[in-house]
Amino acid sequence: MGQKVLVIGSGAREHAIAHALLRGDSVSEVTVASGNPGMELDGIRTTQINESNHAAFISFMQHNQYDWAFVGPEVPLIEGLVDDFAAAGIKAFGPNKAAAQIEGSKDFAKQLMARHNIPTARYKSINAGNLEEGLAFLETLEAPYVLKADGLCAGKGVLILPTLEEAKKELKEMLGGMFGSASATVVIEEFLSGIECSVFVLTDGDNYKVLPVAKDYKRIGEGDKGLNTGGMGSVTPVPFADEVYMEKVRTRIIEPTINGLKEEKITYKGFIFLGLIKVKGEPMVIEYNVRMGDPETESVMLRIQSDFVELLEGTAAGNLNEKTLVMDPRSAGCVILVSGGYPEAYEKGFPISGLEQAAATDSIIFHAGTAMKDGQVVTNGGRVIAVCSYGATKEEALAQSYKVADMIDFNKKYFRRDIGFDL
Ligand code: AMP
Ligand code: GLY
Repeated sequence: MGQKVLVIGSGAREHAIAHALLRGDSVSEVTVASGNPGMELDGIRTTQINESNHAAFISFMQHNQYDWAFVGPEVPLIEGLVDDFAAAGIKAFGPNKAAAQIEGSKDFAKQLMARHNIPTARYKSINAGNLEEGLAFLETLEAPYVLKADGLCAGKGVLILPTLEEAKKELKEMLGGMFGSASATVVIEEFLSGIECSVFVLTDGDNYKVLPVAKDYKRIGEGDKGLNTGGMGSVTPVPFADEVYMEKVRTRIIEPTINGLKEEKITYKGFIFLGLIKVKGEPMVIEYNVRMGDPETESVMLRIQSDFVELLEGTAAGNLNEKTLVMDPRSAGCVILVSGGYPEAYEKGFPISGLEQAAATDSIIFHAGTAMKDGQVVTNGGRVIAVCSYGATKEEALAQSYKVADMIDFNKKYFRRDIGFDL
């Protein structure tokens, strides 16, 4: 009998994680809370539990004899689900509450980087008590201006403002409760100009492994224009994140982060997602996340050849240095099919055709916002389906994903045809 695992989260990222857990021999059963019907088509179970209801997770794990849990999203991590599981004697994968502060508080993250000389944008943290200092700091910066709510805002807490006047006005509004208590403290940052990539680091608190580097495409429109979304596609590898660049990332960012946390008596076990920007050839941290990225995970997981479960076990046991991470040398590319209108208002409930035909190809389909209605898979969210493929090059991987993206259809389907255009 293999292990029974509960994956917490929903969407294509968790579908990709569940898929990776089931590739080896050690896990025999995965349930995703709260999953979607696409996962069930792959033999993954789903159950509905609210991600903030820790007591419900604990009771579900105990009553159904699960071996361990994988906590995917930031909200339960920051709310201390891993600590609550530990108190109940349940094994869980993911950073604890103290460690999750690197995403839970942008001010905490900036202070950590400052204390350990980790390259990041110049900043000042402001609250209602030192507004004047904030206004004066803005005067020292050049346009555009970056304001970040300290706490979690479902991905909406970063404002980039073109003029000093707007920056001052928005700073006051944020402190006045624009994002509730999450913006009671605001981090004002210098704007950095460069190309971004996502680096997922798996650490047991001492040792670490760097997963394949990916790039995501956040804007709705081609050429990276228009509104921000949850992500329209991703590719890995990223040619500009070459060996020279990654050596700088390891020595200036990853190692000081892990050692800094350790010095501060924080045990970090899990993934650290580094949002990096390359400024004049040098890596700088835009943000830390305590989860994996979406839709980067969908591509990155395709390139992990070693047993994913073994890596997670090494993380939990503190012997990650004894595990090997073998990466697939091929490229992977992922294209997200979304509902027309997204990220603004859109309709749901449209039947999705072509899924069986798509499943018969070499591409891998992960479901994001789908539901089952009268035996038919229908659209149930803004981001609907992730189509992921391998290729000898990123062009080949994406061409394959686009071929399959054209096979799958639903009313008002939209996707970007230029994923990877800037690499
Ligand atoms: P976040 O919500 O922290 O992921 O930030 C959203 C996006 O804002 C990032 O992916 C960057 O593209 C951009 N951003 C954040 N901070 C800065 C900065 N200091 N300079 C330039 N762009 C930034
Ligand atoms: N793709 C960026 C994120 O997951 O935040």
